[in-house]
Amino acid sequence: MRVVRAEWMAAAAGAGQFPPPGEPEVAFLGRSNVGKSSLLNRLVGRRQLARTSSVPGKTRLVHWYRVEGGAGETWLVDLPGYGYAKVSRVERERWQPLVESYLESRPTLRAAVLLQDLRRDWSEDERLLIEWLAQRRVPTLVALTKSDKLKPMRRARRVRELREAIGLPAGAVVATSATSGLGIADLWRAISAPAAVEPARSEP
Ligand code: GTP
Ligand code: MG
Repeated sequence: MRVVRAEWMAAAAGAGQFPPPGEPEVAFLGRSNVGKSSLLNRLVGRRQLARTSSVPGKTRLVHWYRVEGGAGETWLVDLPGYGYAKVSRVERERWQPLVESYLESRPTLRAAVLLQDLRRDWSEDERLLIEWLAQRRVPTLVALTKSDKLKPMRRARRVRELREAIGLPAGAVVATSATSGLGIADLWRAISAPAAVEPARSEP
């Protein structure tokens, strides 16, 4: 997608501060330091629109970015990361209600993009999140991040391994790199047609 304009729009520490629902939203979630803010910047072609850091725990609030291009306007939502051991317990206890209230209450949420470092194995956190999103019928994509860290052969093998281990269809798992730009066009395509990759659901 050709982005013609991207700007920071709002931030919230709790549900009471969420901006009123407007345009369709795509939310980015994943472990701290996995590369959520970097990937968002790469998607919109702006190096420092969302703040990034080599120190985990950089994004503490929910941030909205308004993006114009393609068929119209989309809001990209950068969520704080989970699983950062060094943040205080108080901080950790804030994450779950904040992220859950966002994912549960947002009528305009069109898709969630769960990020996973291509070099790491799935943890219980990602498995639970994928299950939780499927139960709430949120179309879910996986972006495997930092793909530039592996050579092409090894990268292709890892993508297959991780996809098989999590049981999502091929189109729902995209290898990406915020550094090289790999997979960015594929991810935009997947984001634009998330219904096609809605996870299979078991009947209650
Ligand atoms: P929190 O806000 O703490 O949850 O982290 P985040 O998921 O937003 O991660 P962030 O984008 O801040 O990136 C974390 C670190 O990973 C930074 O040092 C980035 O430069 C690095 N990084 C992110 N994406 C890539 C990538 O595609 N390739 C490489 N090599 N490094 C990356
Ligand atoms: Mg961040």
